[in-house]
Amino acid sequence: MLIRKPSEIPSSLITPRTQYLNRRRFLRGALSGAAVAGAAALGVDRAAELISPRTAALAGTKLPTVKSPLSTTGEELTPYQDITTYNNFYEFGVPKGDPSRNAGVLPTRPWTVKVEGLVNKPKTFDIDTLLKMRPLEDRIYRHRCVEAWSMVIPWVGYSLSELLKQVEPQSKAKYVQFLSYYDKHVEKWSDESNIFWPYSEGLRLDEAMHPLTLLTFGLYGEVLPNQDGAPVRIVVPWKYGFKSAKSIVTIRLVEKQPHTTWNDQGPQEYGFFSNVNPNVDHPRWSQKTERRIGLPLFSQRRQTLMFNGYADQVTSLYNGMDLRKYY
Ligand code: MTE
Repeated sequence: MLIRKPSEIPSSLITPRTQYLNRRRFLRGALSGAAVAGAAALGVDRAAELISPRTAALAGTKLPTVKSPLSTTGEELTPYQDITTYNNFYEFGVPKGDPSRNAGVLPTRPWTVKVEGLVNKPKTFDIDTLLKMRPLEDRIYRHRCVEAWSMVIPWVGYSLSELLKQVEPQSKAKYVQFLSYYDKHVEKWSDESNIFWPYSEGLRLDEAMHPLTLLTFGLYGEVLPNQDGAPVRIVVPWKYGFKSAKSIVTIRLVEKQPHTTWNDQGPQEYGFFSNVNPNVDHPRWSQKTERRIGLPLFSQRRQTLMFNGYADQVTSLYNGMDLRKYY
């Protein structure tokens, strides 16, 4: 998504993916060997700090879930391996493989989410309270990135509306802003891109209240790995993936349309609404088709669906709007 100088283009973008992954596997092996040797040199205490249970240990913990009627079915799920190693999480580096390598340092406990702004009952929620607030549902959603690749992901969570109802939005509240965790000492890869941190995204209040908008804690029935946005993220399945802010610490209800990271970066390329729309091309590429990650090469290419296949549920949110203008 970034416009970068040739000297900044990571090799992952110019090397065939299989070759790149093989090289990464080799590097990872070499690096983990080096880490073990390095930890021995540092002493046991420092080594324990490097693999602190506050960071990566929760990922993979099983979550109790119930089935949801709001699931997309009938499509092959993207393998866990692809969902967790092909990521956009620019706080942890620009190449797709970097977040899975680097995000282990994100401290996911203790963690709170502050819900503030134009609400009658502002509140700071502890993440473990949020996890238990409603039954966690399995929701299989199509996940479409603006870069024209897609996945099918079994997320775990419940509708964001359940949380918003608790804080009682005021009638003046028209938008919801999401702010991600940011600490440049922890996320030291964040200066690889020109983004103004923290990562900020937003939805209109009616979009945020739509039952499909998921407050997400897990995938494949387990706690989210850090690179996928632990401990809590948003998933808005009818919009391009960048609307789904990861590792959220603040949810703010506001009157005016909030500033958003990608709209700040390039307003002609990334609109506020960013609904998946095969009829509105990105200025630099077509959005008519997409590449389904994780399938054999010959079967990856497919037609992009209006609203990513959720048109029946969400078209009415945009009645009377020119979707070419409000892209
Ligand atoms: N949230 C934060 N905090 N930082 C990011 O860089 N990237 C966005 C979105 N949320 C991003 C983020 C983009 S561009 C996409 S496509 C999705 O996360 C990717 O989610 P995934 O890695 O789980 O597929």
